[in-house]
Amino acid sequence: IPVDTFDCVVFGATGDLTLRKLLPALYHRFRDGQAPEGSRIIAAARSEMDDSNYRTRAEAALQRHVAKDELDPEQVRRFLACLHYAQVDGAAEKGWEGLLSLLAESPPDRIRVFYLATSPDLYGPICRNLAAHGAITPQSRVVLEKPIGHDLASARAINDEVGSVFAEPQIFRIDHYLGKETVQNLLALRFANTIFERLWNADVIDHVQITVGETVGVEGRGGYYDRSGALRDMVQNHMLQLLCLLAMESPVTFGADSLRDEKLKVLRSLKPMAPHEVEQLTVRGQYIRGAVDGRPVEGYLADLGAEEPSRTETFVALKAELNSRRWANVPFYLRTGKRLPQKVSEIVVQFRALPFTIFPADAGTLQPNALIIRLQPEEGMRLEMMTKEPGPGGLHLRQTGLDISFEKAFGTRYPDAYERLLMDTVRGSTVLFMRRDEVEAAWGWIEPILDAWEAKGDTPRPYSAGSWGPTASIALIERDGRTWHEDL
Ligand code: BG6
Repeated sequence: IPVDTFDCVVFGATGDLTLRKLLPALYHRFRDGQAPEGSRIIAAARSEMDDSNYRTRAEAALQRHVAKDELDPEQVRRFLACLHYAQVDGAAEKGWEGLLSLLAESPPDRIRVFYLATSPDLYGPICRNLAAHGAITPQSRVVLEKPIGHDLASARAINDEVGSVFAEPQIFRIDHYLGKETVQNLLALRFANTIFERLWNADVIDHVQITVGETVGVEGRGGYYDRSGALRDMVQNHMLQLLCLLAMESPVTFGADSLRDEKLKVLRSLKPMAPHEVEQLTVRGQYIRGAVDGRPVEGYLADLGAEEPSRTETFVALKAELNSRRWANVPFYLRTGKRLPQKVSEIVVQFRALPFTIFPADAGTLQPNALIIRLQPEEGMRLEMMTKEPGPGGLHLRQTGLDISFEKAFGTRYPDAYERLLMDTVRGSTVLFMRRDEVEAAWGWIEPILDAWEAKGDTPRPYSAGSWGPTASIALIERDGRTWHEDL
């Protein structure tokens, strides 16, 4: 479905996110004919360059980050022709003429998307400058990449600054996990089916596991990552959003505020961790040299090129609980890390064991049911069930999976999360974006953990690259008589 004609101004246009994610996503949308004739992408950055230099860079990025069979030379040429470059330092008051005159070429009611793919400390200054130069029209919106701040106070400061210039419905705070098809499918799973919702509570569910594993290290992002760490980089946003979608009550409608109201309630019902509990309920690790996919890799410090030790965690596991009737005493175990054995995002909803069995001991052990939701890769779902092994030799029970592979079911390309989210910004739909109060509530829960780690002042536990993190993360769940789901 085509959107209205738009101008999308990307600040930070020479950065990694723009080249790796935004341009490929925009290319796909232009290629599929979703962006009407006349739509433009205005790349804004400090480097001295003209349109033609930037197009050369953009083309190289597409060659690198778009699958070969999706790169049609004619479509690439047409896409590049929609790209313009404006040299501007968004944080500086002067030097905006080039960008402003490009914007002035469009009719005043043209949709304007200002995408801030920059460091969060520039969000406030860029917004102030946009306002000071009269660049914000009623049809304008601003897109903020995560992380929104470094802690609660800085998140509030950014939200205040941006909010003094844009109204909340014009502010699109991206959490790209919400743009993933399989993450949106969690809503379908829960609210478009009869069978699960009735079982979705503490009476039937024993616990939930959320694993987001990555095989990559910090790549070239050490500067950002070392100030962040896994808790800020992945848990404060992506993983808590997943938890919200799993745990929330049914929204009144599929409207942006209904949905976000329910997510907010989940965030507010997270049990705060007292400083003395943090040691018990969280584990942080940092990878050391090891092997991933059979290839030897360096440790975190070598990847950073750091001479001093770093206290930043590249792995975190934690046990979260919710203060709610639905989820009373149902732990949510979360773990994520760099340099793990597999790139995988998976949710395990573990049902309770049967309280009683009619089967004799030699029929085999009854395993409780589990619903395994694979977000990426090989997107799909599996319901683990006990079945009778076929054969005449007596009754033997075995766990088997009721499996659905989304790829096989739909046989279609899964668009990248940014494709959907970018088009939603043009449409003005904030459903899949975070509201201010959500971001701040998430920081409010995360901050005491960061503070307790800081106060303790020790370094994260080492784990070999290619392992599932420090052994303490296994102990975290085994202490409760449970285990991490292994069959990833
Ligand atoms: C980003 C983090 O938000 O998400 C990265 O900053 C991480 O560190 C990435 O690698 C993971 O996203 P995906 O879509 O590859 O699971």
